[in-house]
Amino acid sequence: MKISFAKPQLPSEGALVAGVLEGKGLTGSAKAIDDLAAGGIARAVAAAKFTGKKDQTLTILAPAGSGLGRVVLVGLGKAESIDSQAAQSFGGTGLAAVLTSGDTSLAIACDDIPGLKIAPESFAAQAAFGARLRSYRFGKYFTKEKKDDKPSIKKVTVLTAASGAKAAFAPLDAVADGVFLTRDVVSEPANVIHPESLADECRKLSALGVEVEVLGEKQMKKLGMGALLGVGQGSDRESQLVVMRWQGAKDAEAAPLALIGKGVCFDSGGISIKPAGGMEEMKWDMAGAGAVIGAMKALAGRKAKANVVGIVGLVENMPSGNAQRPGDVVTSMSGQTIEVINTDAEGRLVLCDALWYAKERFKPSAMIDLATLTGAIIIALGNEYAGLFASQDKLAERITAAGGKVGEPVWRLPLGDAYDKQLKSDIADMKNVGGREGGSITAAQFLKRFVADTPWAHIDIAGTAWTKKDSATCPKGASAFGVRLLDQLVADHYEDK
Ligand code: BES
Ligand code: MN
Ligand code: ZN
Repeated sequence: MKISFAKPQLPSEGALVAGVLEGKGLTGSAKAIDDLAAGGIARAVAAAKFTGKKDQTLTILAPAGSGLGRVVLVGLGKAESIDSQAAQSFGGTGLAAVLTSGDTSLAIACDDIPGLKIAPESFAAQAAFGARLRSYRFGKYFTKEKKDDKPSIKKVTVLTAASGAKAAFAPLDAVADGVFLTRDVVSEPANVIHPESLADECRKLSALGVEVEVLGEKQMKKLGMGALLGVGQGSDRESQLVVMRWQGAKDAEAAPLALIGKGVCFDSGGISIKPAGGMEEMKWDMAGAGAVIGAMKALAGRKAKANVVGIVGLVENMPSGNAQRPGDVVTSMSGQTIEVINTDAEGRLVLCDALWYAKERFKPSAMIDLATLTGAIIIALGNEYAGLFASQDKLAERITAAGGKVGEPVWRLPLGDAYDKQLKSDIADMKNVGGREGGSITAAQFLKRFVADTPWAHIDIAGTAWTKKDSATCPKGASAFGVRLLDQLVADHYEDK
């Protein structure tokens, strides 16, 4: 789907999406088409009791002689509450209404919306971004799809009088590229995306100037990564650790921000095997790694002026004759020993070596890990907020603010010594589970033992990485939660001014 920008003028074919303000009625192009229809649009609005409430839609057959197929009115809500999120919803909701309509081109009218809270060029750019995000589709395995079920829109033109819209869209377009990469790798089944093939996807980022290194099992063994390797040992697939470096700051020596991702390409639970029902969902247990990979693509794509290193630990957690057993003791790269009580609490075993490695090798200014770490976070927060844990208030506040801006909200949960005690083992430095109570917190507490003094945050995305229903900017499936948050965080706090 191609997106371009043009000066406001009614198109002569295809579909038109135009906004309606709550209480104030039709905006720019909607008024123009209403004139063409001799007031027919306004009458349709009144007849349908369409009030312009946010994300309300009304599809009307376009007036004869206009050449257009359909007109879709999208409610914008009140002008003073229209922020970048609302603009994205407008574009995404408008696109969704016509995506499979049969029309091949769409014009999204962003002209003449009085009282906007954001600049008109940014409204137009964000509407384009929303439309692009909503256009995502993972359809490669359908071989018998009917033409009517496939997206028909090939071309989107955003109508705006503001001259800076195209330039404002360019970095957002790069972020969308990152989001799409994440959604692709997270959607792929585990027979296609496994540690080695996911490492190959990382290697492709070198085309954008990202330096990519892949460590195999032999190298990780040398480094002493017994925790990560223990998780992968039951799988026929070789575990991988991928390091992606984006050196965008003026000062090449400036300490990087480190992003670390859990990449369990399939989590069967291992010998502590999961029940069969729903186990297929565990193909997306690499969504933390997916988000880090997508964020690296976004940052490189928009040439962020920051040094950022992305590190993903890629494994497959499988039962086999060589699999790790409950009760095994492994030695992590940090030297700390871990009694593996439950082989299904594997994410923390992967992350602990990746975090330690990140800290030792890169001395980052801060480390942020993303992981589909615990089912308990879904019980605590549902599918709306991701869980945030942080060793430092400042970092927590920055992450919370960035997530709020981009529609990827996080909610902070506590850390504390009392929780840490739940990890005490009878035969090793710690065990890998802390019991049912506060399961997400004890998991975070486990990770904290591998970050030393480096400012660190952990985002548990088990509830937000995958959605079961469509939203304005995301069709159901992989959401790529984290990509936009990390991009915003870097833009706000880690780039050269
Ligand atoms: N990958 C799962 C967590 C998960 C659950 C992610 C549901 C997405 C949806 C993780 O590896 C896991 O199995 N965690 C266990 C930990 C327990 C054994 C302490 C859990 O949450 O049940
Ligand atoms: Mn597990
Ligand atoms: Zn897992």
